[in-house]
Amino acid sequence: MRILFLGDIVGKPGREAVKSILPGLRAQYGADIVIANGENSAAGAGINAQIARDLHEHGVDGITLGDHCWDQRGFENDIGGLDYVCRPGNLPKICPGREHLIVEKDGFRFGVFTVLGSQFMKISSDNGFAYADQKLLELREQCDAVMVEIHAEATSEKIAMGWFLDGRVALVVGTHTHVPTADYRVLPRGTAYISDAGMSGPYESVLGREIPPVIARFVDGMPRRFGIAEGDVRICGCIVDIDRKSGLATKIDRLEIAASTMSLLQD
Ligand SMILES: [Fe+2]
Ligand SMILES: [Fe+2]
Repeated sequence: MRILFLGDIVGKPGREAVKSILPGLRAQYGADIVIANGENSAAGAGINAQIARDLHEHGVDGITLGDHCWDQRGFENDIGGLDYVCRPGNLPKICPGREHLIVEKDGFRFGVFTVLGSQFMKISSDNGFAYADQKLLELREQCDAVMVEIHAEATSEKIAMGWFLDGRVALVVGTHTHVPTADYRVLPRGTAYISDAGMSGPYESVLGREIPPVIARFVDGMPRRFGIAEGDVRICGCIVDIDRKSGLATKIDRLEIAASTMSLLQD
């Protein structure tokens, strides 16, 4: 089984790129299942039902979220009706939305859940390690393989999660920092790992936002509107091969495609 994971989709540039490239990408890489983080897909902050539906219709099988999951007003009322969207599992139990997804393809049941990290996050959540332990017990009989997304700021926490889950899940993929990392590898017990998949959005930016207001904010500390940037749009993520029998990874590669080369893929 081949899984394609796309990092945080940022704003309209990210959405449009994913929508236009995904069919070609899927075919070119022979991806069986596509999962994407959509926490920044609505104007850079959160997601709404229409965008989620749109991404799903364009080939994203499962959509994960992060600390920005409630940024769009009213999404808390809509998330329950979207059976291909899950919010971070370790948010307070009272929060609406699914804690995990099970995406099925050719009889293969692929479990997906996200945990929020504990460092520098402005949203309250339970301990991600304890949560992952519990959730894996719950999913054991229901899934043939599982991926865990660690949506966190600190690389130490992400790497620790990779080792913690090595041999128990197919993939531990980091998101949230929007900067792709070069440390992708299959850990000794068969878990594919990368600290950050990178964002799918404009790279002529600061984490997807326009450069001048971010610099100005660092210079004088005054608040400003950070618009979504537009230049150098790229799709970033990873491709993971999973052994159907063991549910563990045999290979992970990083994916990074510039929008300027997308037309090549569509021909
Ligand atoms: Fe993000
Ligand atoms: Fe985030």
